[in-house]
Amino acid sequence: MSALSKQKFTSRRVVGALRTLLGRLARAYGWYFALQFVTRFVRRVVSTIVKVRKLKQQNVYQSPCCPILGHVREVKENFDRLLDFRLDAIKESKAKTVLRLGLVCSDRIQMLTTDPIVVKYILKDNFRNWDKPSGNENFFFKYFRAWLGVGIFTLHHSNKYGEYDTWKLQRKLASSIFTKNNFRTYMYDVFQERASTLVDHMRCGARAAAAAHEVYEIDMQQKLFGYTMDSIMRIFFSQKTETVTGENEGFPSAFDEAHRAHFELIVKNVGLLTLAKLLPWPFGPLSGSNVTTGIIPWCIMTLSPLGSRFKRAITRIREETRKVIENKLEDPATATSNDLLSYFLRARDDDGVPFSDAKYTEFLSGVVRSMVIAGRDTTACLMSWTFFMLTAHPDIQNRLYEEIMTNIGDGEPRFDLLAAQQMPYLNGVVYETLRLHPPVPVDPKTCIEEDTLPDGTRVPAGTTIMYFPWGMGRDPAVYEDPLAMKPERWIPFKEPDLYKFPVFQAGSRQCLGMNMAIYEAKLVIVNLIRAFKFTLKPGEEENITYSPMITMSIKNGSGSYKLLLHAEERQPQGLRHRSTEA
Ligand code: HEM
Repeated sequence: MSALSKQKFTSRRVVGALRTLLGRLARAYGWYFALQFVTRFVRRVVSTIVKVRKLKQQNVYQSPCCPILGHVREVKENFDRLLDFRLDAIKESKAKTVLRLGLVCSDRIQMLTTDPIVVKYILKDNFRNWDKPSGNENFFFKYFRAWLGVGIFTLHHSNKYGEYDTWKLQRKLASSIFTKNNFRTYMYDVFQERASTLVDHMRCGARAAAAAHEVYEIDMQQKLFGYTMDSIMRIFFSQKTETVTGENEGFPSAFDEAHRAHFELIVKNVGLLTLAKLLPWPFGPLSGSNVTTGIIPWCIMTLSPLGSRFKRAITRIREETRKVIENKLEDPATATSNDLLSYFLRARDDDGVPFSDAKYTEFLSGVVRSMVIAGRDTTACLMSWTFFMLTAHPDIQNRLYEEIMTNIGDGEPRFDLLAAQQMPYLNGVVYETLRLHPPVPVDPKTCIEEDTLPDGTRVPAGTTIMYFPWGMGRDPAVYEDPLAMKPERWIPFKEPDLYKFPVFQAGSRQCLGMNMAIYEAKLVIVNLIRAFKFTLKPGEEENITYSPMITMSIKNGSGSYKLLLHAEERQPQGLRHRSTEA
């Protein structure tokens, strides 16, 4: 045999051997794939069936649904009225805690509650066992953290995740800003200055429209999100932005984009992501590792237009956050400033290392992002719904105007003047809006270990209970004629029990910004209502609905988030009196 044919023979043998090896590997992987898939599938299905059966034996109500698909089809069909759909389940059950099911192979037991006793149990009595969902098991939470970072809003507090100390520290540091003195001085100055800017901006718009003999139409929700953004940029980071006048689109639009893309990503891909959990690596996650690893989640995030949109928004948020922190680090005033980020940058860890150290960059990024969503979206939702309610009920708007003019007139709406005792009707309007349109309408907590609820129901480890402020505020057993807007319900004012009214959560993780949000909303309402008379754009009322996201903003038909109002400038008070006298 010549040297050449010998070489050809050898390489043919090598190729043949390789082919055989690859064939065997592929076959072996095929077996591994099938075995893993079947094992994961069967394990999850059996686990779900056993858990559901145990709960039903304890008389936990579950509304009718397909045994394989759970309530998935119903949720999709009712997506635009998700909160009503959930409330229907509570109503038809006649119980306050009901079972909701996902796909039978998802191994997720979800319960929904409007029972204050259960709310108190999970938020206070056994708080350490009821945490935010696990990022490894729950893709919604995993992606939530991808854009919000690891900050007070997303940190776990149970022993399982080792994040308790960081959460506690962030809570302690963040609390330092919410003092009465700060409300009366620093926050008042910022809120009032920002409100004056908003009123002036709207006056210009109204006068231009009047000069052109047109009605002044304004997207109030956009303005109010702009207002809260500019206020918290000052209060938390000492930065002056002008979102209200359209000059700061970076941070807010990246946040909105990430929030919406996150939600759509989950809704559109819930089936695929659930399937991916069942597939072995590399298609799905390695057993025990986080659910967003593997080829399928990677393709969704990287190749789908929605995933790319989400990733771009996250990159923008990171970039904007980095700028906020860098500006603060370079600013000599940080050493004495009253803003929240300065408090953090001046603090030190247990080893004496300041949080301004480079090793805390990611920590600070989480702080900034959590505080932006906490301070901006929720309060803007509250104010947007308030203006919707005031335009839907012109008589209430008139009565509120009278109270404002009688008690404050053109004067400064200082902190103490806005208290419930001084302005009971204003306070009633705000609380009625919070009752009917809570900015966080539903909030899930997951138990780490098996637990027994106060009524004796044993729930398995991993059960999620969603407490439901939106449903609780509409309970006819608690509120007579619950769908009617009646600010008088809250006069005279008695602080509601937060477990019965958990709009700001309650217990150990109660919202830190509750007083700030209520104060800010009242101050803005006073400034706007005394300057303008608002009406809803004709034909809008029937389009207004809620967006079923983490924070419940106003949705206007499909895909639009506008609250279109007509604003008519009121005559300044002095002029009003003169013309009346004349
Ligand atoms: C109407 C306005 C607001 C509502 C309805 C609201 C509601 C809530 C709710 C339901 C939670 C619990 C979230 C969870 O952990 O599951 C929360 C937490 C929190 N809120 Fe608010 N919030 C509002 C405004 C604010 C404002 C203006 C701030 C200002 C900084 C703020 C700061 C926080 C913080 C820091 C937390 C996390 C507390 C913790 O986990 O320890 N909130 N809020």
